[in-house]
Amino acid sequence: MDILERNKRLEELDKEHLWHPFTQMKEWLSGKPVIIEEGRDCFIKDVYGRWYLDGVSSMWVNVHGHGKTQLGDAIKRQVDKISHSTLLGLGNVPAIELAEKLVNLLSPLSASGATSNNVAESNNRTDSNKGTALRRVFYSDNGSTAVEVALKIAFQYWHHVGVKGKTAFVALNNAYHGDTIGAMSVGGIDIFHAAFGPLLFATYKSPSPYCYRCELELDKRTCSMECLEKMEDILKENGDRIAAVIVEPLIQAAGGMITSPPGFLRGVRELCTRYGVLMIADEVATGFGRTGRMFACEHESVAPDIICLSKGITGGYLPLAATVTTESVFNAFLGEFKELKTFFHGHSYTGNPLGCACALACMELFESEGTVAGLAPKIELLKNRLDGLSHLPHVGDVRNAGLMAGVELVRDKPGRTPYPYEEKMGWKVALKAMSMGVFIRPLGNVIVIMPPLSIPLSNLTALLDCIEESIKEATA
Ligand SMILES: Cc1ncc(COP(=O)(O)O)c(C=O)c1O
Repeated sequence: MDILERNKRLEELDKEHLWHPFTQMKEWLSGKPVIIEEGRDCFIKDVYGRWYLDGVSSMWVNVHGHGKTQLGDAIKRQVDKISHSTLLGLGNVPAIELAEKLVNLLSPLSASGATSNNVAESNNRTDSNKGTALRRVFYSDNGSTAVEVALKIAFQYWHHVGVKGKTAFVALNNAYHGDTIGAMSVGGIDIFHAAFGPLLFATYKSPSPYCYRCELELDKRTCSMECLEKMEDILKENGDRIAAVIVEPLIQAAGGMITSPPGFLRGVRELCTRYGVLMIADEVATGFGRTGRMFACEHESVAPDIICLSKGITGGYLPLAATVTTESVFNAFLGEFKELKTFFHGHSYTGNPLGCACALACMELFESEGTVAGLAPKIELLKNRLDGLSHLPHVGDVRNAGLMAGVELVRDKPGRTPYPYEEKMGWKVALKAMSMGVFIRPLGNVIVIMPPLSIPLSNLTALLDCIEESIKEATA
């Protein structure tokens, strides 16, 4: 079979058998799929040999670039030893070593002071000060499961420490924590979640810190983060029913790259402490360097009680996630066998050795390549270029946290009128970009910019040039 025949067959088979995520398959079936076969650095190549700049890090996961030898080699070395063995009743070498590494990386959060009065600690005063540190790693396979684990741990924590009735959660409007039922229950994006309403558990919803479209109709130049006051009202009134607040630190990513104002995250931490609820930081999107620090919580010296990690943990090579809790939270689950304090949760691939070995190599690359320190000029370039984009007639708002950014397109700039959903303006921009050799995936009217952290400045410039040109053409 020659290459063209093979490609045609792949296209047919894709349409015949695949069901693509977050994709209207009717449209997909009438189009010509782009099929990726290879990747190098910040580029991906399709079956016809066309290269595309990977402007969204293959769904926000890729950190050190595609085809990174050290990551591939780490996986191969581990394959030669063992590919999978269960953590149910057994340990495995990479899972243990990675847990230690993650705990060390998270130590700046534990030392930040916020946990010195965190809830778990005040409920467990006999602990040593180790109790406040994020030290216990529970593995799963993806961001959604990391969140499910966090919710279940938070829920059961209160039961185990003998506090009754704290069974609900506070989440933010526009939040996205994944697609499993629990993760959707704490989600706040209507077009994704509303249809499943009857399946979801009730959650207290607090305003999103979406300054460009403030739910409270305030102006960010003069407001005093009244959105936090609304959260406080919820906690004041219902604190004895609430197990935890869950937030995406610094930026609500899938909600439209909505950056929270400085101090918001810290404010959430303070409210959690004041009203005796756990704080869950969902760093699935922001973790591992994305925001210019290893973890977004570092920017505001915030120490959550539970943190969810995935995506960049393996540099985008294998599915893996970790939910890390403080020792105090963990301690609540210790008891006699018959007490049933065991955390009855786990997955077949929990702590998969291949994923953990890859993640370890990924963390080593962060160190050996100085990945986070090297981000400063890239973030500066991105900021400058976003500033330039903000003057375009159909760009309403530009937002970024480190090397993750959103450009919100509007039909009418003074009125901040969005393009109607069915106009698919974000997609029009993405299609233009694709025709110029850049792959991006919008979130409605928001153009997402999230290249691999390893992207060289020259490629970042090319990416931003292309996005600028695509926006100009699509919105003309
Ligand atoms: C903040 C956040 N949490 C959770 C998830 C879900 O992760 P996954 O798609 O790996 O299930 C995502 C995915 O984008 C996310 O951005």
